[in-house]
Amino acid sequence: MKAKITVLPGDGIGVEVAREGVAVLETVAATFGHTFEFQTKLIGGSALDAVDHPYPDDTRAACTSSDAVLLGAVGGPQYDNNPPAKKPETGLLALRNSLGAFANLRPVKMHDPLIDASPLKADIVRGTDMIIVRELLGGAYFGQPRSIDDERGLNTMVYTAPEVERIAHVAFKLAQGRKKKLHSIDKANVLESSQLWRKVVIRVAQDYPDVQLEHGLVDSCAMALVMRPTAYDVIVTENLFGDILSDEGAVLTGSLGLLPSASIGGPVGLYEPVHGSAPDIAGKGIANPLGTIASVALMLRHTFKLEKEAAIVETAISELLKEGYGTPDLKSQSKQVSTTEIGDIIRAKITAAK
Ligand code: NAD
Ligand code: IPM
Ligand code: MN
Repeated sequence: MKAKITVLPGDGIGVEVAREGVAVLETVAATFGHTFEFQTKLIGGSALDAVDHPYPDDTRAACTSSDAVLLGAVGGPQYDNNPPAKKPETGLLALRNSLGAFANLRPVKMHDPLIDASPLKADIVRGTDMIIVRELLGGAYFGQPRSIDDERGLNTMVYTAPEVERIAHVAFKLAQGRKKKLHSIDKANVLESSQLWRKVVIRVAQDYPDVQLEHGLVDSCAMALVMRPTAYDVIVTENLFGDILSDEGAVLTGSLGLLPSASIGGPVGLYEPVHGSAPDIAGKGIANPLGTIASVALMLRHTFKLEKEAAIVETAISELLKEGYGTPDLKSQSKQVSTTEIGDIIRAKITAAK
């Protein structure tokens, strides 16, 4: 197949991990006879530095006219005090919005060889395998009005029924293909936006009688995730709760650097690791690229429908971990290697899988 992919390395370790993601895609293309055309564009802090805009028009045009987008990460301490319009993160939100990517899938899976890298006891975390479906274009992230002055910061958490409906359908369909169990997480005991969320999810559930639906409150879910992570299979939740719960879920499995994501639902899929630009380790060549490489697998599966190739990339990741390789964030791994060495090993495995 032939496809156009826009690459947005962004800032910090985003550049290092995106490079490995692209190299994996190139290997997949060469090995299985596909043609991927890449164009690399600016986003976030690097775009602010170059053209004073976190999501330049040229980047937007490239992204909206491609088949898929691969993003590294954005952000950095030098931009932390910038006004909202000049923040790297504003560029990322504008990107997601411009692609209509309302469904953010974040699979959280415990790889057995990493069981000692988890902050949880092995008996609790073993077997963890869930997918967090985070609504990505609503809630406090996009609510209007929003403002800041010296005395007051204002955000509004808004959800409309159609916004909840479309994400609920994505989650129920995913649950149907898995264990037919869905947890919808909200704060309906306090927030009106959550009360609407719950009402709409219950309505959508009528279309999926084979899926067992449970509602939970986000504070108790945060606790349950560390007490009994295996109780979850598919979680659906609003934007901000999903942001927080997915970092928590990620680290249960050993490192934030492992977690991939797919943002779908619009005409162009966006694929990015869940972690940020990690200024504390940027430029050292030790960032874990596996979250990005696993995001590439999600791109192959969801946008290009290349299930075989997606599975080969995922198997390469599992094998590499089983063989003891890992970047320094995976302290329990016996063979400590660099970002590029991880990429090299994965690529060799893909070539060998032909
Ligand atoms: P972070 O995810 O960048 O880092 C948190 C911790 O995890 C750090 O100690 C970091 O070294 C470690 N870590 C993260 N990814 C890693 C990897 N691949 N390999 C090894 N270790 C890894 O979060 P933060 O420090 O809170 O945020 C830094 C900047 O990144 C902020 O500007 C934030 O807004 C931004 N951010 C961007 C994205 C994104 O672009 N999608 C996501 C989260 C945070
Ligand atoms: C994420 C990040 C982003 C978010 C930030 C950088 C805008 O934390 O992708 O999880 O909050 O969505
Ligand atoms: Mn986040």
